[in-house]
Amino acid sequence: MSLYVNHQPAATGQKRSRNDPGNKVTVVLGAQWGDEGKGKVVDLLATEADFVCRCQGGNNAGHTVVVEGKEYDFHLLPSGIINSKSISLIGNGVVIHLPGLFEEGDKNEKKGLKGWEKRLIVSDRAHLVFDFHQVVDGLQETERQAQEGKNIGTTRKGIGPAYSSKASRTGLRVCDLLGDFKDFSMRFKNLVRQYQSMYPALTVDVEDQLKKLKEYSERLRPMVRDGVYYMYEALHGSPKKILVEGANAALLDIDFGTYPFVTSSNCTVGGACTGLGIPPLNIGDVFGVSKAYTTRVGIGAFPTEQLNAVGELLQTRGREVGVTTGRKRRCGWLDLVILRYAHMINGFTAIALTKLDILDVMDEIKVGIAYKVNGKRIPHFPANMDVLHKVEVEYETFPGWKTDTSAARKWNELPAKAQNYIHFIENHIGVPIKWIGVGKSRECMIQMF
Ligand code: GDP
Ligand code: IMO
Ligand code: MG
Repeated sequence: MSLYVNHQPAATGQKRSRNDPGNKVTVVLGAQWGDEGKGKVVDLLATEADFVCRCQGGNNAGHTVVVEGKEYDFHLLPSGIINSKSISLIGNGVVIHLPGLFEEGDKNEKKGLKGWEKRLIVSDRAHLVFDFHQVVDGLQETERQAQEGKNIGTTRKGIGPAYSSKASRTGLRVCDLLGDFKDFSMRFKNLVRQYQSMYPALTVDVEDQLKKLKEYSERLRPMVRDGVYYMYEALHGSPKKILVEGANAALLDIDFGTYPFVTSSNCTVGGACTGLGIPPLNIGDVFGVSKAYTTRVGIGAFPTEQLNAVGELLQTRGREVGVTTGRKRRCGWLDLVILRYAHMINGFTAIALTKLDILDVMDEIKVGIAYKVNGKRIPHFPANMDVLHKVEVEYETFPGWKTDTSAARKWNELPAKAQNYIHFIENHIGVPIKWIGVGKSRECMIQMF
């Protein structure tokens, strides 16, 4: 007999909620250091989705979607906002900079994105990023540079300071902004004072900020719902396709990433539950997105980085420039140690492998398969950055296919050497590859099953 009460079958005629958890949610997550092509994968799935939800991060994210030759970049808005038939939801785990949100919406409206404000729902529990959080982000970076000789290379979008306010329980949420404005103003002033005591150089025009926030609050109000109840209804009503769009990525996760060179939220699968109020039982497919090589923006260890002609070729051919900050991305070979690590945490049901086409001109392609410390393979991904900086990477080398793959739309249209490379990755991680990206636009994706 099972020790677990919940494993016993329900009595006839009794409907137990645990046996009928409702709709399953599909989650798309970055499996490297970000910019893997999550936006593109979400866009592909969003064409059929009823809801597309962001669960964490803020406008530090930059997700590119290319549809009918038009390129959109999304930062706070879920990439599914493009689909006029789906609802986009910004969950409680996201930190929202209101000027950034409206600027982004207005900019995309000029590109032809119609009616986005009517399709956007914002959780009343989401925390706010204020302008001064962004200023403090910059001050903290300067301080790190002065004290330690290096900074994190943040996006300066105020993400770290806003999540710090949340964790120290002095943060302000959407529900506070839409509630009693007098009370909100008092708490806002206290928060400013708190930061000014830490950073005496910080100047804030409090009255001007409050005036602007009041204006934003009225524009925001029609979009705001109780996020938990809204999600519960979506999960338990009629069959619905619900998609969660991860931002940032596994190696930038505050708990599992290359700490302290990480962002300030959980970018792994748990973030989907805590950032939207989704019970674990409702998590269905978890799709990991990885490039066919590796990139990283900002500072921090990067074992397979290629500071040579290979890295430069990947950077230029892959147009590896940050969507949010315009910084050049650092480039290197695919690292299967980090993909296996991301899989340990996320339990991927399938992988989307993007940017295979960028490797088309390579004579040979290397893949990192293991890390060695003092000549011995280690079975885990090191927590300590000093260790990660020193690991020796063991590579497997593949011959390049030297063929243009950008027109391939089916598996059998790929060269045998490219198929070999993909099979090796899939076998090594132990997760099937469901999509292979061979170009920027929506149709440049080979679907395997
Ligand atoms: P995200 O942050 O994970 O959504 O990714 P980004 O949008 O920051 O960066 C991915 C970049 O690669 C974007 O410029 C995409 O248009 C581009 N991209 C995505 N998939 C492919 C692909 O399969 N091939 C090529 N050539 N470009 C791609
Ligand atoms: P998407 O969703 C790439 C990196 C920054 C910096 C570190 C901390 O487009 O994949 P932060 O501003 O979050 O405090 O910066 O994290 N970073 C990203 N790098 N893609 C992202 O998002 C990123 N979001 C944060 O470059 O190193
Ligand atoms: Mg990006």
